[in-house]
Amino acid sequence: MTTHCIAINNIQRIGDSHAFPLDQWYVAGFSSELGDKPIARTFLNQKVVLFRTGEGQVAALEDRCCHRSLPLSCGTVEGAGVRCGYHGMLYAPSGQCIEIPGQERIPAKARVKAYAVVEKNQIIWIWMPKTEGAEPTKSAPDYPHHDDPLYKFGSGNYHYNAPWQLIHDNLLDLSHLGYVHLKTIGGNARLHMNAEMNVTQEGEQVRVVRLMPGSTPPPTYKAAWPFGDTCDRWQEIEFDLSHLRIWTGAVEPGTDAIDDPHRGGFHMRGFHGITPETATTCHYFWSMASNKHPDMPENIDEVVRQTAFTFDEDRLVIEAQYRNMLEFGEQAKWLDIHVDVGANRARRIVSKLLEQQQATDMAAA
Ligand code: FES
Ligand SMILES: [Fe+2]
Repeated sequence: MTTHCIAINNIQRIGDSHAFPLDQWYVAGFSSELGDKPIARTFLNQKVVLFRTGEGQVAALEDRCCHRSLPLSCGTVEGAGVRCGYHGMLYAPSGQCIEIPGQERIPAKARVKAYAVVEKNQIIWIWMPKTEGAEPTKSAPDYPHHDDPLYKFGSGNYHYNAPWQLIHDNLLDLSHLGYVHLKTIGGNARLHMNAEMNVTQEGEQVRVVRLMPGSTPPPTYKAAWPFGDTCDRWQEIEFDLSHLRIWTGAVEPGTDAIDDPHRGGFHMRGFHGITPETATTCHYFWSMASNKHPDMPENIDEVVRQTAFTFDEDRLVIEAQYRNMLEFGEQAKWLDIHVDVGANRARRIVSKLLEQQQATDMAAA
């Protein structure tokens, strides 16, 4: 057994997946993460091993050998599947065991649970079904910006010691930029707090638009684009249950309108896949795609570097917030202010999905 396997499994627990909305696609990782080793991750309280076969197919299985329960993530990836690292049983992406070393007959029940996975736009999506083995009822989300030649992107992921919805809150309220991210994408805090904000909802999607003309270009914008003393900034945030798409940027004053989707200028397109691990922990998969200025072609690497720094700052805040929430207890209520509209809408969507799920669970019981 490798130390890689031990380290990853230290953090994992299993439990009730019905505490989260099911029959949904969630982000399992990025294509670039799946090399020649299996990856152990827990999604919605379910332990999963991710791997890529020799033919390039991405697969996700329950992370437990049906022989003696060693995590399959402690094994090795071979051409046809993943081989258990204890007694060598080989599993295909379907979950069926296809080889038991030294034994000819393979019992039909020599299999583990398999999850539907889709690799699309360099993102790996996993379908978390309400009923085991049920097929996806919708397509995995599109994210074409990873494949758009106008952009180049970098990505990363965090394991968070905080519940997933605290990250939704953070991303749906970008007024925090002026307080948390002054070294990178911040800017004038008062301008952020006073920005005109438009919140709309369509079905289970929330959209928050904030326009900030006459902004002082923050350090990341200056590093990436030859702005003068001011720029006109936009922030467009779209919430989906499994991920948020955040399109921010700025144009030079007097050029394009900041609410024109075809505007020029400097663009940052952030992808934020937030996948619950347990009730108190989550995965945060992010990417940042940016366009390059012809005179500053190296800007994208710097934008990605500064983005990673920015998200480190968010993690410090959110994990400290959650520790404090635990210490003060649930009786310590929150007060809403004007910046919370988008985040509260997203919370209502998650609550409604959970209520509907619990109602059908009860009806079926
Ligand atoms: S525990 Fe996997 S083959 Fe024995
Ligand atoms: Fe932030």
